[in-house]
Amino acid sequence: MITYRLGNDLDLDQVVELYRSCSLGARRPVDERERMGRMLRNANLVVTAWDGDLLVGIARSLTDFAYATYLSDLAVRETHQRLGIGKELMRITQREGGQARIVLLSAPAAATYYPQAGLTQHPSAWTLGPEDAIR
Ligand SMILES: CC(C)(COP(=O)(O)OP(=O)(O)OC[C@H]1O[C@@H](n2cnc3c(N)ncnc32)[C@H](O)[C@@H]1OP(=O)(O)O)[C@@H](O)C(=O)NCCC(=O)NCCS
Repeated sequence: MITYRLGNDLDLDQVVELYRSCSLGARRPVDERERMGRMLRNANLVVTAWDGDLLVGIARSLTDFAYATYLSDLAVRETHQRLGIGKELMRITQREGGQARIVLLSAPAAATYYPQAGLTQHPSAWTLGPEDAIR
């Protein structure tokens, strides 16, 4: 049975190991422990999925609980994928965000996951990297 918890008071090593246990590990700074720690500490809506004591999923978001929730990382352990955990993590994130709309950037490997889960593609998403200059 999978249980779900709210909150970012988590063991950082367990969280990093979860990212490494699926393809998201290659797309997040898992070798920068201090940075991963900041990512976890400053996220204000974190939902986790547990199989007993084993961390099997995470939805890590930043939200104002009123207008927008940026779902930065959605990850499910490879051994536990396709059991509905990803969708449940998003359902709880949506519920906890109140009136906020969930916004996210899909990893290429999950590009077809979100439309079948009910999310709408937005044609005008824009990003600015930390080293990109405003011209
Ligand atoms: C993408 C991810 C979060 C989905 O979570 P999940 O718990 O495996 O998915 P769910 O069980 O909630 O949904 C299952 C359904 O979604 C679809 N699906 C699952 N993974 C998919 C993928 N990678 N691409 C497309 N569709 C996918 C399938 O239709 C599946 O239904 P089926 O088993 O009946 O075929 C998970 O596979 C994962 O962590 N992937 C690696 C990291 C990643 O890419 N994260 C997204 C970053 S934006």
